[in-house]
Amino acid sequence: MSENIFISENSTKQQKYEELLPQLKHLLLPSDDLIANLANCSAALKTVFNFWWVGFYLVKNNQLILGPFQGPVACTTIQLGKGVCGASWQQAATIIVENVNEFPGHIACSSASLSEIVIPIILNNEVVAVLDVDSEYLAYFDEIDKKYLEELAKIIVELFIKKAD
Ligand code: SME
Repeated sequence: MSENIFISENSTKQQKYEELLPQLKHLLLPSDDLIANLANCSAALKTVFNFWWVGFYLVKNNQLILGPFQGPVACTTIQLGKGVCGASWQQAATIIVENVNEFPGHIACSSASLSEIVIPIILNNEVVAVLDVDSEYLAYFDEIDKKYLEELAKIIVELFIKKAD
C-alpha cells in the first residue's frame, strides 16, 4: 500500500477534492488506528490545499479536545456551544464563517485565521468529533468545500465505527 497522494497539477478545487477523496479512503480504511488515520487525513488536506490550519477536535468527557492536526498550535479544549467548533457540535451541522471576527464567540487560536469551516462527524445521531479548517483569507470556504468535506466526514465516521467495534 502506497502512502502517497497524487493530485493533478492545475486542478480546480473541485477536481482536487474528487481526486483526493477516493485516495484518502484507500489510505485510511485499512488501518484500525483512529489517531493514525486522523493524522494522515489532516496531513493530506494540508498538503493538497495548503490550508492555514486543519484538524480534529474529539468529543471526550463532554468537551472538545484537540486531536490530530496540521498547522500552528491550537487551544486544547472547547466547551459545547463555544466558538465555531462548539457551535457546530451543538447544532450537529456544518458551519461556514466568512469572517471569523464577525462570529460571536469565535475562539481565535491564531490571529492570522480569517475564515473557517467546521464539519461535525456524526455517529448514531451523536457528534463524536469535528473537522475544523481555517484559512488566512476571508470568505475562503464555499459550498464546494462543504459538499466534499461532508463526504469526507462520512469516510471518517467509518473510522470511528471501526474503533468502536
Ligand atoms: N476557531 C475555532 C477554534 C479552533 S482553532 O481555529 C484551531 C473556534 O472558534 O471554534
